[in-house]
Amino acid sequence: MENSIQNRETVGVEDFVLLENYRSEDAFVENLRKRFQEDLIYTYIGSVLVSINPYKELPIYDAKHMERYRGQNFYELPPHIFAVADTAYRAVVHEYKDECIMISGESGSGKTEATKKILQYIAQASRHSGTVDDVKDKLLACNPLFEAFGNARTTRNDNSSRFGKYMDVEIGVEGFPIGGHVLDYLLERTRVVFQAPGEQNFHVFYQLLKGADQNLLSRLKLSGNWKDYHYLNQGCRTESTQISQEDALNKRWLQEFREIIHAFDATHFTPKEISDLFTTVAAILHLGNVQFMEDGDYAEMKSAEEVVIVSELLGCSRDDLMQALTHRGVHARQEKVLAKFNREQATTSRDSLAKAVYAKTFQWLIQRVNQALQASNQSRSAVIGLLDIYGFEVFERNSFEQFCINYCNEKLQQLFIELTLRSEQEEYVAENIPWEQVEYFDNQIICALIEAKPVGIIPLLDDECLRPGNATDATFLEKLREKHTKHPHLLINRDKQQFTIKHYAGNVIYDVEGFLDKNGELLHRDLKEIIIRCRNNDILKNAFTNEEATSLKRALSTATQFKNSLKELTVILKSKDPFYVRCIRPNDHKASRNFSDTIVRHQVKYLGLMENLRVRRAGYAYRRSYDAFLRRYKSLCPDTWPHYNGPAREGVSLLLNYLQTPAKAYAMGVTKLFVRMPQTIFAIEDAFQERKNDLVTKIIALWRGRRQRQAYLRDREDIITAQNAVRRFLAVKLLNKRRVAARSLREFIKGFMERHGPMTDLNRKFWLQTRMVYLNKLAKMALPVSVLDKSWPTPPPFLKETSDLLRSLHMRNRVLKYVKHCSPERKFLMDEKVLAERLFKGKKTLYLSSIPQFFITVRLGAETKPFVEQFENSIRQPTEKTVYATDCRKWDRHGLKERNRAMVITTQNLYFLEPGKAGFKKKNAFPLYTVDKLTVSANRDSVLILTVTTPAQGKKPEQTNDYIFLLPNLIEFAMKFVLVSGKESIVEVVPNGRCAIKAGGQNGCAVDFGLGSVDNILGHKKILIVQSST
Ligand SMILES: Nc1ncnc2c1ncn2[C@@H]1O[C@H](COP(=O)(O)OP(=O)(O)O)[C@@H](O)[C@H]1O
Ligand SMILES: [Mg+2]
Repeated sequence: MENSIQNRETVGVEDFVLLENYRSEDAFVENLRKRFQEDLIYTYIGSVLVSINPYKELPIYDAKHMERYRGQNFYELPPHIFAVADTAYRAVVHEYKDECIMISGESGSGKTEATKKILQYIAQASRHSGTVDDVKDKLLACNPLFEAFGNARTTRNDNSSRFGKYMDVEIGVEGFPIGGHVLDYLLERTRVVFQAPGEQNFHVFYQLLKGADQNLLSRLKLSGNWKDYHYLNQGCRTESTQISQEDALNKRWLQEFREIIHAFDATHFTPKEISDLFTTVAAILHLGNVQFMEDGDYAEMKSAEEVVIVSELLGCSRDDLMQALTHRGVHARQEKVLAKFNREQATTSRDSLAKAVYAKTFQWLIQRVNQALQASNQSRSAVIGLLDIYGFEVFERNSFEQFCINYCNEKLQQLFIELTLRSEQEEYVAENIPWEQVEYFDNQIICALIEAKPVGIIPLLDDECLRPGNATDATFLEKLREKHTKHPHLLINRDKQQFTIKHYAGNVIYDVEGFLDKNGELLHRDLKEIIIRCRNNDILKNAFTNEEATSLKRALSTATQFKNSLKELTVILKSKDPFYVRCIRPNDHKASRNFSDTIVRHQVKYLGLMENLRVRRAGYAYRRSYDAFLRRYKSLCPDTWPHYNGPAREGVSLLLNYLQTPAKAYAMGVTKLFVRMPQTIFAIEDAFQERKNDLVTKIIALWRGRRQRQAYLRDREDIITAQNAVRRFLAVKLLNKRRVAARSLREFIKGFMERHGPMTDLNRKFWLQTRMVYLNKLAKMALPVSVLDKSWPTPPPFLKETSDLLRSLHMRNRVLKYVKHCSPERKFLMDEKVLAERLFKGKKTLYLSSIPQFFITVRLGAETKPFVEQFENSIRQPTEKTVYATDCRKWDRHGLKERNRAMVITTQNLYFLEPGKAGFKKKNAFPLYTVDKLTVSANRDSVLILTVTTPAQGKKPEQTNDYIFLLPNLIEFAMKFVLVSGKESIVEVVPNGRCAIKAGGQNGCAVDFGLGSVDNILGHKKILIVQSST
């Protein structure tokens, strides 16, 4: 219902209880119409389902829909036949209660379809294999069989059920169908021999003619064309069926024939049984074609041909059959006398036989299907009863059959009124709610008119049938008139031989003609005997017990039998919880999308739907258990949201108070809340819908948060696990490391203590370790980078040798690196240094002061430097290159006088130059090879004694001369000279003391080298005293 409350704006209301103007029939019909036009064929009145025949296939019965309704609350989803089926089914399964679903409505309103849908739904509940599937197949298969033999086309319905059917589906303890049982009511047997215009005989005749293959047809001696048979072609006398229509019909019959063959298979019919069935059907067709002529007053058979076929098919005696059709054995005083029939009587006799055979066959079929549906296991079971009984019928001409059918509907209507009112009333009483009586039409008076003894229509009819003498339909009518002169529901029209009953569903005029015959429907004994003598046919052979066939006692009349069976049916139905499906036919033309207000209104009226609604609404429009109500609406009140732990009733009370619902608007029952007006519940529902949005937003947020948190917790857990693993791994690693370290330490200490003892593994290790530690340390230390840096870490004593080796390697390495990166110019400079070292290191103290500077080529002062060019252009030979030029002082050898001079070493000569104002003046030039010696002291002084030997030249003999100079850079000069001359031995370092100086081969003066407190050079009496500080 909540669902319908929610959707009320869309297409009418899904539950009439919510209809505001619930007393208005117009509003009721309008709601049906609105919904019907949107293909919403189902609407509830409380728990009653109102269904309108759509006359077209709707996509609402597939497996998806079945699934949707399975296990759902009745009101949670839009109204549907599946909702009814599911509720009944669940009650059976869960509560083990017998339920029944009563489907009522006019012919053509969709009862049989509804039954089938329910059956399909229940069968579908068994999604199992093996026996359950077998039962399911059987349950589904019995419908096509019943429809073939019991349904026919009428002006109201192309597939009208011409018998009443009540079916029990047994549900086993496991909740699956385990079997079933069918009761049938009053088959309209007249149809076998007669059909009104536009109507047809039972489907099976046509299905057999269209569906049987040539073999079967020829065995049954059938032509395959229904128009050839008198029992089939009467209905079409006035209706010219169009070719296209006929094509469609042929196709349908063929299809249906296949379905019944499949159904035979599913219900395990034997081939013999099937053959007997078809043979009987064929025999009836042939029987219908037996024709009689009038021979005087008596009937004669036109031709024996058809009778022969019938007797052959049924396996009875031809002569007996012929005789039974044209004669009647009259038993008079123990003797049997044959009385001949006239033509009319013979025809009646033929038709009676046909009807009886068909009726017996139908009964056999029901019994055979029941046998197939019998539950094999005897475990506890509950049932769902499905009642699909013919609906109220009003034709142009209504006869005994319509009378019975409409009587049946009166009884069912009575039951409906009684049960709906009763249950409603019971609910109010049980819930302690004051109950207000609703006026409704009680059809008891009509039922009494029909059935009450002794003057009801049926007792009168029976009386008339039994009365000896001249009883006719007319006398019956007369009796009726006499007994009910002023009955408000009965009108008699003697002129037309009609009587009218004002049924609850409307007035019906019955033609009294045939009432007596049809009620008596007595097959004369000869014909019964014929039937039981059909040797070949198991169905007919056992149709009557012997006693039945031979007894002279009259059987109960048809109407009384029917009355009795309805009584039994009422008992059965009352013993179960009822559900109602009220079917409505939207129009008279079997047309889809056509909604006739008048026709629907009429049905609404007589089905008592308005009363039903009024009863439902008299008290309260809406009721719901406190639990359910609270569950749905508790979010509307802070006291009940989100959890309310007290009793549901109190919770509802709190909720309603909070919503300020006026006390008059509702009543609190024992277990349920009753709300009087739909508006009240609409307001609550609207508030709920609004609240739902808020809640949904909250739920979404919470849900997202929760999901995030879950993800976070998952991640955290993963991380912790990973961390644990890593920590463990690291701890184990550390432990091992420590173990190893401790062991190493122990061994190391031991090794240390025993280091001087004999070599063992331990002290070897110690040594190794110490070495390693030292080497490692060395590797990490800042070792000298410069070749000049001589620092080096002090090694442990026992590694001195290694350290020295390493140091030398390191140095060499540094040097190698240095040398590799040395330019040729620098290398030259270094070579000069090396040469100087070789010449003077450790020999002359002055050397030390020469180390820091590189040697250069021109060592001239500011005044003499510019003369270099002049020297090179005008003094030097063009082939020479200047190697070194320096200022110097010269002492002459005689007076030891000092003079400024310059000396230039070229590649060939050594020049003595005198600096003048404009340039140098050449004083002397000696080829390099003439220079013999460069004598210096071992001291700090810069005095040079240069010895030149001039070779003999002409008359001039070889002559040795010494020259004394003071050079600003003595070491540099000596080195340059040695370099250019290639004579290292030329340098002589003399010890302190006196050196004689030769001049022109003679001893001249002398130089005295010595050490003193200060540097000093002093000439004294031809001796140059050169004193250097230490
Ligand atoms: N729910 C439905 N969906 C589609 N067609 C339907 C439905 N109910 C009835 N019909 C159509 O109406 C016809 C008559 O319905 P049926 O159940 O035989 O009526 P009833 O048994 O009340 O006389 C069916 O043959 C079918 O064509
Ligand atoms: Mg039907």
